[in-house]
Amino acid sequence: MAVLGGLLLLLALLLLLVAGLYCCYVRRVHAAYDHIPGAPRESFLLGHLPIFWRMMKKQEFLHDLFLEWTKKYGPIIRVNAFHRVSVLILSPEGVKEFLMSPEYPKDRLVYGRIFNLFGVRFLGNGLVTDRNYEHWHKQRKVMDPAFSRTYLIGVMETFNEKAEELMEKLEEKADGKTEFSMLTMMSRVTLDVIAKVAFGLELNALRDDRTPFPHAVTMIMKGMTEMRIPFVKYMPGKQKMIKEVQESVRLLRRVGKECIEKRREAIQSEKEMPTDILTQILKGDALEETRDDENILDNFITFFVAGHETTANQLSFTVMALSQHPEIMERVQAEVDEVLGAKRDIEYEDLGKLKYLSQVLKESMRLYPPVPGTVRWTGKETVIEGVRIPANTTLLFSTYVMGRMERYFTDPLCFNPDRFRKDAPKPYYSYFPFSLGPRSCIGQVFAQMEAKVVMAKLLQRFEFQLVPGQCFKLLDTGTLRPLDGVMSDGKLSLAMHRAAALFSPEVTERPSAAASCTLQRRTVSPCSLSQTHRCPLGSQPGAQVRAAPRREGTHGKVHSQILAVPEPSPCSDGWQLQVSLIRAVNSAYSFWIVAQSFHVCEEFPVGFLSSFLC
Ligand code: HEM
Repeated sequence: MAVLGGLLLLLALLLLLVAGLYCCYVRRVHAAYDHIPGAPRESFLLGHLPIFWRMMKKQEFLHDLFLEWTKKYGPIIRVNAFHRVSVLILSPEGVKEFLMSPEYPKDRLVYGRIFNLFGVRFLGNGLVTDRNYEHWHKQRKVMDPAFSRTYLIGVMETFNEKAEELMEKLEEKADGKTEFSMLTMMSRVTLDVIAKVAFGLELNALRDDRTPFPHAVTMIMKGMTEMRIPFVKYMPGKQKMIKEVQESVRLLRRVGKECIEKRREAIQSEKEMPTDILTQILKGDALEETRDDENILDNFITFFVAGHETTANQLSFTVMALSQHPEIMERVQAEVDEVLGAKRDIEYEDLGKLKYLSQVLKESMRLYPPVPGTVRWTGKETVIEGVRIPANTTLLFSTYVMGRMERYFTDPLCFNPDRFRKDAPKPYYSYFPFSLGPRSCIGQVFAQMEAKVVMAKLLQRFEFQLVPGQCFKLLDTGTLRPLDGVMSDGKLSLAMHRAAALFSPEVTERPSAAASCTLQRRTVSPCSLSQTHRCPLGSQPGAQVRAAPRREGTHGKVHSQILAVPEPSPCSDGWQLQVSLIRAVNSAYSFWIVAQSFHVCEEFPVGFLSSFLC
């Protein structure tokens, strides 16, 4: 007994000694960093963690705390947790130094945490999480062809096809009453796009409500949020969620495996392969000395998740911001009308002409970046803004916080796309929604082309209004998304109104002899023809139709669309062309040509219309 007591005493003394030594170590670490400005620690050991935990419990947005801190403590801020001190770098000088150079790798602890998700291999050594520079560089180089301009031009067809499916789905909901989550719809369309473009998979997430993939991705994102709670995997109340997250990751890896096997078989039978992301991933693997199927799957998951979730969030935030700013919506709609008119298939060349839409998308990512920042590690001492940053430190970067700092953007909380006008000064290392330098987003151009196609079609066809009473808070699940867009109780965030509500019911007016004009108001979309086009009647060369949209009212609402025919009557005897566009029921475009005598009224199918408009 006495021996046992002695042993226990010894153990207690040993523990006390270890605790004492640990506290001394923590004190030494504090001493090395305490010259860096920062909020007072709430606890000697826990540092700032109690503040973060309290905020997370109340679903408060942590990044806004950092914004508050930078106002008080400046652009270089210390963050304490146990013996670890990270430094938040909110200065362009620091961003340039650390992000533009390959010298500073991604932080092992932060990126290592998503190697597995609750014990199941998740992003592994994929392109986002790979910390080995040589390995990463080889993988990245081999992926480049799948993101080349030439390849992406070919992908426009899929962007159009899937965005068109989204429009059809929205059409069903666009009665001005149905409330639904824009985020859900955007996630489904971007999921369908990445699956098809990257891996040749038809997921049908938009059309098939029973497909398990959207739920799997939602669970994975939830898992990424929940895993930040200390000891979560031991909490009895969380076991069901953890199981679902594990199952979701396994599902994605299983599908990836099947997809890879199919592609390998196709390659072996020498079928012609697209230069898509999967082909490039397999080529990357072939370059390795030891083939590693797990690494191929890491990249499958990496592109599957990174390639759609972020774009969906960007699109949802953009809809949210535009709905709050009717005057900006009006301006961007006018641009879409002018560039696209009623055109159904958006071409690569059109994207460059949608300049204001680009500005809107950029401004949306300044205030609402889907990826709030990135994390690096420095092995050497560096001085930034006069502050010495010790070696072996984790460095945090936030485009979210910098995008909202008065120091870098005047009136930063105001949504103003003109900040990104071509002649406006470029933000200097204070705006990096796709990160910067060698580890910046490989899918940046892909994402912006896709976002533009979806937004342009949305603006071309619909008016949208936010359901009153929703909050505009953000949710951090590793990526940022609108909080209300993911509410699960069935209350959803957006009601769409067919633009038809703005038009009077279908009427065919007799044109006055002078105007030679007929209006067919079956339209649901404020489209316009804004150029002069050749007469579609093949037998009447040289005939012209001119369409002039007329805009009224303030909030970007197109009240009517008038098509006039240039003088003299352009077509053959008896024909006067006129018409209105455009968006007919059942998602098909139609186009009417009405004879002056009103004996003939023909409707042309969409293919005809688009060839005419081009
Ligand atoms: C609006 C959409 C998107 C945003 C805001 C975004 C943002 C980012 C950011 C900030 C990073 C750096 C991450 C880090 O430092 O840890 C990144 C990396 C990456 N993104 Fe994106 N991304 C988007 C769309 C896409 C798309 C569509 C794809 C693929 C088709 C993609 C694939 C990747 C990959 C593979 C990386 C890792 C690159 C590397 O380290 O070499 N992203 N993205």
